[in-house]
Amino acid sequence: MKKTLVFKVDPENPDIQTIHTAASIIRKGGLVAFPTETVYGLGANALNPEAVKALFKAKKRPLDNPPIVHVGNIQDVYRLVKEVPEKAEKLMKNFWPGPLTLIFKRSEIVPDVTVAGLDTIAIRMPRHNVALALIRESGCPIAAPSANLAGKPSPTTAQHVLEDLYGRIDAILDAGPTKIGVESTVLDLTVDPPQILRPGGTPYEVLKAALGRIELHPVAVAKKKVLVERARSPGMKHRHYAPKARLVVVEGNLAAVVRKVAELTEYYKQRGEKVGVLATHETVGTYRADAVKSLGSRSNMEEIAKNLFRLLREFDAEGVDVIIAEGVPAEGLGLAVMKSLRKASGYKIVKASF
Ligand code: TXA
Ligand code: MG
Repeated sequence: MKKTLVFKVDPENPDIQTIHTAASIIRKGGLVAFPTETVYGLGANALNPEAVKALFKAKKRPLDNPPIVHVGNIQDVYRLVKEVPEKAEKLMKNFWPGPLTLIFKRSEIVPDVTVAGLDTIAIRMPRHNVALALIRESGCPIAAPSANLAGKPSPTTAQHVLEDLYGRIDAILDAGPTKIGVESTVLDLTVDPPQILRPGGTPYEVLKAALGRIELHPVAVAKKKVLVERARSPGMKHRHYAPKARLVVVEGNLAAVVRKVAELTEYYKQRGEKVGVLATHETVGTYRADAVKSLGSRSNMEEIAKNLFRLLREFDAEGVDVIIAEGVPAEGLGLAVMKSLRKASGYKIVKASF
C-alpha cells in the first residue's frame, strides 16, 4: 500500500509548484490521477514501459486493453505515429483540445505495452488546464485510462478516484468535478470511412458534419452483446461501467418507459429487493422506489451526461440491489449515455411499448 498524495488545485489556474511536483512523479515512473474535461484519468509516462505496466496493475486492467495517450500539443503526435492523414489534421485543428480520441498507425518509439501490442495508438489532447499543465511540465506523452478500477463506472470526481485507487497510486490532482462526465469519442482513422469505436463527448453528428462519411462500429450502438473476434477497440469486449447492483435499462417512448419502470419497481420490491430508479427531472416524482435519482432534464443532455457515473456510484453506496434506468434518446451526447447504460446493464434492456 502506497501513501497517495492528494493535491487540491484550481481547475483554471493550477498552482505551478503543485504541477511541478506531480510532473516529477510522472517523470520518475510514478502514477498520478488528474482531471480532464471528460473524466479523471490515471497518468503514467507513455514512453516508460515499467510505468505503464504499473498503471495496468493499479487499475487491475487486462493487459490487452490499451490506454489513451494524452499529448499537450499537436506537434507531439508526429513522433508517436507513422503518418498523420489529412482528415486527422483537420480534426486536430478543429476539435483539439477536446473530447476526441484519434486512432493512428503507431511509430517505433511507442513501447508495446502502451498499445497492448497493437500496431495502432489512441491519442488525444484534453481540454483542461490541469491536464495540459501536467503533460507539458512532464515533458512526455501521458498514457491515461480512466482512473477507476477496471469494470467500474468512470470517475467524475477525485473522491471517486480515491474510492477505487487510494493506496494504489502515488498522487491525485483534485480540481473538482469534471465538466462533461462521459469519456472522449474514439474515432478510428486507420479505416475508410473512419469509424467511431466508442461514442463519447464529441457527438457522431458533429463529426459527420466535419468529415462527411463516417460510420458507427456495430458495438458502439449495440443493444445486445456483440461478439467481437479480435476486437478493434479492445475495450469493447470487456465489461464496463458496472455498478455492484444489477442494472436494467428501459427503452422506448417516454410514457411507455415510465409505466414499465413503475411496473418493474413493483415486481422487484415484491421479491424483497432494494430498488433504485434512475429517472429524469420530468419523471422523478412519479416513482415509488427505495431510492429515486434524477439525471437531470431531458431537454439538457449535457446535464444528464455529467451526472450519469456519479449517480451509478451513489446507488452502490446506498446498497441497492437493482437499478432500473430510464433510457434517453440515443442522439448527440445521448448516444454516449446510452452506450454506457447498455454496457453497464450487461445488455439487460427492456423495450417498453403500449
Ligand atoms: O475521456 C477519455 O477518453 C478518458 C480520459 C481520462 O481521457 N480516458 C479513457 O481511457 O476513457 P480508457 O483507457 O478508459 O479508454 C480507452 C479506450 C478503450 O475503449 C480502448 O480499448 C480504446 O480506447 N483504445 C485504446 N487504444 C486503442 C487502439 N489502438 N485502437 C482502438 N481502440 C483503442
Ligand atoms: Mg475506462
